Amino acid sequence: MNAPSSNESSSQRLLVGVSGGIAAYKAVVLVRRLVEAGCEVRVVMTEAATRFVTPLSFQAVSGHPVRTTLLDAEAESGMDHIALARWADAVVIAPASADLMARLAAGMADDLLTTLCLATEAPVHLAPAMNRQMWAHPATQANRALLVERGVVMHGPAAGAQACGETGEGRMLEPGAIAEALLQSPARDLAGQRVVVTAAGTREPIDPVRFLANRSSGRMGFAIAAEAARRGAAVTLVAGPSALPTPAGVERIDVETAAEMQAAVESIESMDLFIGAAAVADYRVAEPAASKLKKTGEAVSLELVPNPDIIAGVAARAERPFVIGFAAETDDLREHAAAKRVAKGMDLICANEVGAGKGFDRPDNALLLLWEGGEHVLAQAGKERLATRIFDTYHQITQVSDDASS
Ligand code: C5P
Repeated sequence: MNAPSSNESSSQRLLVGVSGGIAAYKAVVLVRRLVEAGCEVRVVMTEAATRFVTPLSFQAVSGHPVRTTLLDAEAESGMDHIALARWADAVVIAPASADLMARLAAGMADDLLTTLCLATEAPVHLAPAMNRQMWAHPATQANRALLVERGVVMHGPAAGAQACGETGEGRMLEPGAIAEALLQSPARDLAGQRVVVTAAGTREPIDPVRFLANRSSGRMGFAIAAEAARRGAAVTLVAGPSALPTPAGVERIDVETAAEMQAAVESIESMDLFIGAAAVADYRVAEPAASKLKKTGEAVSLELVPNPDIIAGVAARAERPFVIGFAAETDDLREHAAAKRVAKGMDLICANEVGAGKGFDRPDNALLLLWEGGEHVLAQAGKERLATRIFDTYHQITQVSDDASS
């Protein structure tokens, strides 16, 4: 794995929460570091934090107005708190006071920051800072343990001289150390895995010059293949016709028809993860004409026969990989997608609304991810960002099942 460095440029969207404590002044340096590294940072302060540092300081270093209250009509009319919670790739609270940790552990939503932590699906990082006895107190330690169990990532605290004059564990980690941890490139969590991705639409011939096709550009599948390779997987991309360049480190097999796509997928005997992002034609022309059909002036009909379901075939293998599929729906998104996931034997389905300028042939999209026992709503974002979130979800699901079986 490449050692990441804090100088690395990052395009992460980070929500920095600041709670009340003398270490709040160090959070100004943290925000500055993150912005310098290329992150887009929005700051949310608790009421108590504003007694230590003014919101204006954070506005100056982040370049954005600071949010302090939940029900601020003006701020909510811009990015409301749910949108803000979805916007973030990660939430980092520095300093995290004993009170803030207690409120998070209790699942409270009595101010903007705690509400955001409940509403977000992004990872939450805490850099605790408090007097050493407050840190050592069984109540705080129980809260820490509960938060860690729920997936919160703790950074520190460090030991040393404290603002209260005592010496011990409870100092906030230095901003540089927190920034470095946050800027680490995502783990190469797919290293050693064989990933197969289908992408783009298929072309079903009518005659030698005409075909049935759809509006799929291949962007989502290509972004997924690129992200899988970036995370260290050995990736094969089975692509229908697409003008997109082959992502770095990806093996590409070009196909035209659904039958060719199926044959290419079937030729790959073993895989750990299959992602069916292709818009496979459900039907093909029963008997494509051997020569160009002539215009007769009469109505013509084409007999269409169903194509094989590629993803269902993979999901039915005796040694099946984890299977991720897509569902493009024009109505009743959740119900149709949930039924499709089960019918095709998928482990995870990524559903999106199509039609009226949504979904196909666009650089961005919004997705509803459904799996057995869970769901994520991914707000409108670029397909590269969505690909990242899909793999984060895959990682989360497979981690949970690994933990459950160990
Ligand atoms: O049934 P529907 O076409 O909506 O299902 C979409 C999902 O099934 C996508 O993941 C798509 O790649 C996959 N699929 C397939 N083979 C087909 C049709 C769809 O793999 N013949």
